[in-house]
Amino acid sequence: MRIHNLVPLLCVGGAYALPTLPWLAQIPVEGLVRCWGMFAPLSEDRTVYQVLKDDERYSRLVKAINLSNRVIDLLDDPAASITFFAVPNTGIPHRQPSHGDDDDDYQLGSTSLAPKRGDERDVAHDLGHLILQVEELDDIPESRDKDHRKEALGRIIRGILAYHILPEKLDSAALVQNSTYATNLTLKDGSMDYQPLRLSVQSTTVPPRLRINTVVDVIRRDIEASNGVIHSINIPLLPPPSLFSEMFVVPEVFSYVTSAIQRVDLTGAIDRWWIPGKDGGHGSFVGAEITTFFAPTSGAFQRLPNKLRLFLFSPFGAKALKKLLEYHVVPQVVLHTDYVHDAACYAAFDDDWKASIPVDPPLYAYNLTLPTLLDNYSLDVQVARYKAKIPLPGPARYFTRFMVNGRDVGPYDIPARNGALHVITNLLDPRGHHKEDHKHYGHESIDVDWEDWEEWLPQWAMQD
Ligand SMILES: *[C@@H]1O[C@H](CO)[C@@H](O)[C@H](O)[C@H]1NC(C)=O
Ligand SMILES: *[C@@H]1O[C@H](CO)[C@@H](O)[C@H](O)[C@H]1NC(C)=O
Ligand SMILES: *[C@@H]1O[C@H](CO)[C@@H](O)[C@H](O)[C@H]1NC(C)=O
Ligand SMILES: *[C@@H]1O[C@H](CO)[C@@H](O)[C@H](O)[C@H]1NC(C)=O
Ligand SMILES: *[C@@H]1O[C@H](CO)[C@@H](O)[C@H](O)[C@H]1NC(C)=O
Repeated sequence: MRIHNLVPLLCVGGAYALPTLPWLAQIPVEGLVRCWGMFAPLSEDRTVYQVLKDDERYSRLVKAINLSNRVIDLLDDPAASITFFAVPNTGIPHRQPSHGDDDDDYQLGSTSLAPKRGDERDVAHDLGHLILQVEELDDIPESRDKDHRKEALGRIIRGILAYHILPEKLDSAALVQNSTYATNLTLKDGSMDYQPLRLSVQSTTVPPRLRINTVVDVIRRDIEASNGVIHSINIPLLPPPSLFSEMFVVPEVFSYVTSAIQRVDLTGAIDRWWIPGKDGGHGSFVGAEITTFFAPTSGAFQRLPNKLRLFLFSPFGAKALKKLLEYHVVPQVVLHTDYVHDAACYAAFDDDWKASIPVDPPLYAYNLTLPTLLDNYSLDVQVARYKAKIPLPGPARYFTRFMVNGRDVGPYDIPARNGALHVITNLLDPRGHHKEDHKHYGHESIDVDWEDWEEWLPQWAMQD
């Protein structure tokens, strides 16, 4: 495992491992973009494609772009207005003299997009290795086989680069305004109910930093083009895997919930996977197409009363465990704090939307009642997005307060191939309430909400 493989995992693990902090603590880590405004954008008459083509630092990326006319057409379209995340040559791995087995960086990507089949069999599915394969084409003599290979590479590159494109022009000051954005990548297998896959944006004040999907750093921002803006990133973006696969990226945080899901056979409710066709026929994707999952951390399970934990993971508790987990799954809905897609019109917006504008008005605020996999049990979600008023230099800073059943959620808005993942540090109580004691945050050693479980949980689990 090489270092740039390790770094993201540690950072993500670190961030996820934090207990939910009182929400005020989030203010300083949102949005300040320090050097903003120091460079007035020059007017640029070249398109995104032309800017990249003329810059030696992106020659390896441009070589890959050149394999797909559709990508060129989009990046070179004078009428477009787009954002492109471009990875420079330094962000792409170098060719190995031979293929050793330690060649495992970017492994996450290999399962994340289209299935491998036919002449696409040995084509990698992350941009870094795809570009290596494009470069290897130079060593292959012209042949029909080479043409096939080129075509296959071009198709996959188009899909992955579509995930690097936003269909509107968003400079860094605009990018920090929301938490997630639709990309230009829509999957044809029904994932996300045919809506574009999304990416998330994180910004921090100290150090001033702009991140995509928690692990990719923007290293040069706001490179102007006539038809959009380019942000240079340190490593390629990976189209996200399914909700279930995503949790294996940080096993120390999610090992309890992933084994619990497998134990009670709920994998199909949050995973999405490829089944090859029989006898060379077409395969297909199966599993959850669109889902929101509130994923409890391992800490949430560890803070349950010991006896309850033993019960849940014993044969007698399987039914209770299953119902509890079902209460954390919102089927047919993708809820990000700034985006709701409701495939079945299940979610109900709270009526008195206007009744309750606080003194300090949020940019937007809404309450939602979400259905869960468990019939007749719903989740109450509250979202409010604020503009920070702290007088610091630089552009505006924003922060979101996101609660489910009265508890803070976070990290939130993690995009997946088939929905949205939000992390919670306490298991959700299907009775819909918890003890109104604000001294209790996620780092308590015992979760007080569950102290009286013996009085209701076993009977509740047996009801239909
Ligand atoms: C990409 O294609 C353009 C137009 O054909 C060409 O000018 C350029 O040299 C190519 N760049 C690379 C890196 O292959
Ligand atoms: C991607 O961009 C192309 C060209 O602008 C557009 O036709 C297509 O609808 C876009 N797809 C998505 C999912 O945004
Ligand atoms: C940001 O989110 C709000 C609320 O969903 C939406 O109205 C707005 O269009 C979004 N802005 C951008 C730039 O996507
Ligand atoms: C959402 O519900 C909470 C708690 O009931 C209430 O304080 C808040 O004003 C509501 N917000 C909106 C936008 O309705
Ligand atoms: C849910 O509520 C409806 C209407 O109150 C009832 O008919 C149905 O049996 C309930 N389902 C379960 C699983 O409790």
